[in-house]
Amino acid sequence: MNILITGISSFIGCNVGRHLSGAGHNVYGTVRNRAKLSGQYKWLKKGFIHELGDLPDLVMFEGVDLLIHFVHDFRPGRSEVNIRGTQELCLAAKKGGVDRQIFVSSYSARQDAVSEYGKTKYALESFFSEENGIILRPGLVLGNGGLFKRMVRLVLNFPVLPLLDGGVRPVPIIDVDTLCQAISVIVKYELHESKEFNLFHHELVSLKYLLSQTRLVAERKTLFVNFPSKLLLVPLEFLQKMGIRIPISTDNVRGYIVNKDDMYPSQLGRILPDVPTVDLMISKAISQILEGSICQ
Ligand SMILES: NC(=O)c1ccc[n+]([C@@H]2O[C@H](COP(=O)([O-])OP(=O)(O)OC[C@H]3O[C@@H](n4cnc5c(N)ncnc54)[C@H](OP(=O)(O)O)[C@@H]3O)[C@@H](O)[C@H]2O)c1
Repeated sequence: MNILITGISSFIGCNVGRHLSGAGHNVYGTVRNRAKLSGQYKWLKKGFIHELGDLPDLVMFEGVDLLIHFVHDFRPGRSEVNIRGTQELCLAAKKGGVDRQIFVSSYSARQDAVSEYGKTKYALESFFSEENGIILRPGLVLGNGGLFKRMVRLVLNFPVLPLLDGGVRPVPIIDVDTLCQAISVIVKYELHESKEFNLFHHELVSLKYLLSQTRLVAERKTLFVNFPSKLLLVPLEFLQKMGIRIPISTDNVRGYIVNKDDMYPSQLGRILPDVPTVDLMISKAISQILEGSICQ
């Protein structure tokens, strides 16, 4: 199968692209910066330049059987660009003959989402449902990238950290290798019984458990101090407004505050016969971060 992945340089997109290539597919990808294509991904058959919001070049859809949308602009205030840019890409690909499309959404996507991220993903889910697309909802993806890597770095670098509201809220997780395996199965389905796949371990862990396991595996002595999340939002908002880059954004905190354990049921066990334990997922991902293993 010829598969086009938008955001091939993303943490997850790269891992998925490499995995699908290893499984025998021809993988094409988009980046927004040509320098990212300079021989970095040996398995990539074709690379294209595309920035969200630009007019899509129909050449990139030639011969493509399946398009997977990974690109997301995480900067605050980019909701409109994400929604419009992704919609335009979807419609242009359809015009170019690509009827099968997968949108990578998130566990945070919901009608009553409070974070910009959750609202944006929900708006795009509604669009892709109408366009007969397939929706994937991964939990927090564990591996050497994304939000999890930034969380682990905090544990590695700081002796004391605030634990949001005691860290009791549930966090759905999936390690990047298991996610790649699940997507590899999903892309092979010809006719989908289901158009939505919730991809995370059926056992939701608490933030406290996730951070404590991180501390244990990384052999650190970090002290976690209970801290009200609403109080943390104030300094984070200030730093963001000052343009200071922070590892955990106000949007991340807002998304966590509304996490519940009954939002979406996990479907991972239906897709993969053998799902690793949550402890195995966590320890493997931390080892990848400590070893600095990067996708290329
Ligand atoms: N990480 C997680 O835990 C997680 C969980 C659930 C769902 N997801 C979803 O999975 C996808 C990938 O996430 P990730 O963690 O791998 O993110 P990431 O590493 O930050 O990658 C984001 C990608 O989007 C591209 N991008 C950003 N703004 C763009 C723009 N304006 N125009 C074109 N491309 C742009 C980036 O390109 P550059 O490389 O040039 O910056 C990069 O390829 C996202 O849709 C995310 O919402 C992630």
